[in-house]
Amino acid sequence: MPSLTVLGVETSCDETAAAVVRWTDGGQGPADVLSSVVASQVAAHRPYGGVVPEVAARAHVEIIDTIIAQAMDEAGLGFGQLDGVAATAGPGLVGGVMVGLSAGKAIAMAQGLPLMAVNHLEGHAVSARLAARAPYPFLLLLVSGGHCQLLAVEGIGRSRRLGTTIDDAAGEAFDKIAASLGLPYPGGPALEALAKGGQAGRFTLPRMLLGRAGCDFSFSGLKTAAARLAETVVSEAERADLAFAVQDAIADQLCERSARAMAGYVREHGAEGRLFVVAGGVAANMAVRARLQATATSHGFAFAAPPLAYCTDNAAMIALAGAERLALGLTDGWDAAARPRWPLDAEAARLQPTHVAGRKGAKA
Ligand code: KG4
Ligand code: ZN
Repeated sequence: MPSLTVLGVETSCDETAAAVVRWTDGGQGPADVLSSVVASQVAAHRPYGGVVPEVAARAHVEIIDTIIAQAMDEAGLGFGQLDGVAATAGPGLVGGVMVGLSAGKAIAMAQGLPLMAVNHLEGHAVSARLAARAPYPFLLLLVSGGHCQLLAVEGIGRSRRLGTTIDDAAGEAFDKIAASLGLPYPGGPALEALAKGGQAGRFTLPRMLLGRAGCDFSFSGLKTAAARLAETVVSEAERADLAFAVQDAIADQLCERSARAMAGYVREHGAEGRLFVVAGGVAANMAVRARLQATATSHGFAFAAPPLAYCTDNAAMIALAGAERLALGLTDGWDAAARPRWPLDAEAARLQPTHVAGRKGAKA
């Protein structure tokens, strides 16, 4: 079977990343990751408690060439041995997206290679296929700092959104609640570590939308309630118990909404594609992941989630999405634009907008 070797570039948030992935045509995973380099900007943003777009864009510019050179070097390849170049074109912080997309275009143009302008969410959607067999179609829960969505993924470029957050993303809730507990940015991993020493029973937190129709999510009520409680906790044991309660409330909502999506998905797909994939930064949380895996099992779904390194932002997932696009002839012109917002399912976003005036929400 023919194979495609693609360089991927990712700069949509606070990670500067480049990777080389070899994908075999017709393969449903695992792909061959020849290199995956990720430079985190966490230290640069930590003093501000979150990602500062201008700081991020400048940091990407300073390091992008070095990261791409390192990825090529570790793969042991020259640009001439590539079949194409994939770069994230959105959604994300547009200054950063422009840096990676321009770098990708420059290499593709100079080498006479096809360019794939990849949707960052499509990267997360294929990320489990970097390390495991995960054939289409599958049900996807995409949970990251900017997104919280359930999608029926029929193939590359063919996703249907079943539900999305109406306010904050799950990762954003982790980060903001962690900040109110005095934990350093990014809060998700720190909150998970604190929750390990905690117990159930001391705090009761709201579970938004539970029992309601549909598969949408909401975390703002939880965020407010947890922030109020955070002001009252004094002992280390109380802090750990609150972190535990927060993680449990988030997991409850993710599981209940996913279970609903599974029921609907089974009605449409029958026995086909009973695979539940969880991707994005929050999928790195082992407690949440275990709860989601149990939900999948109890609903007759197989379960797949990427290894930790491919849960958070990386370029291997962008390279793989690019390779799958290239195999279908889905390449882009030099005029491909950087897009701050870019829903995977444009129709669902049009019919059910989550970004109406005056309302803050997820990037997609
Ligand atoms: O996928 P990602 O790297 O970036 C986006 O596309 O948003 O996700 C980052 C998010 C952050 O909100 C971070 O706190 C969260 O994923 N995260 C976690 C964990 N590791 C990362 N949340 C909970 N537990 C973790 N272990
Ligand atoms: Zn991401």
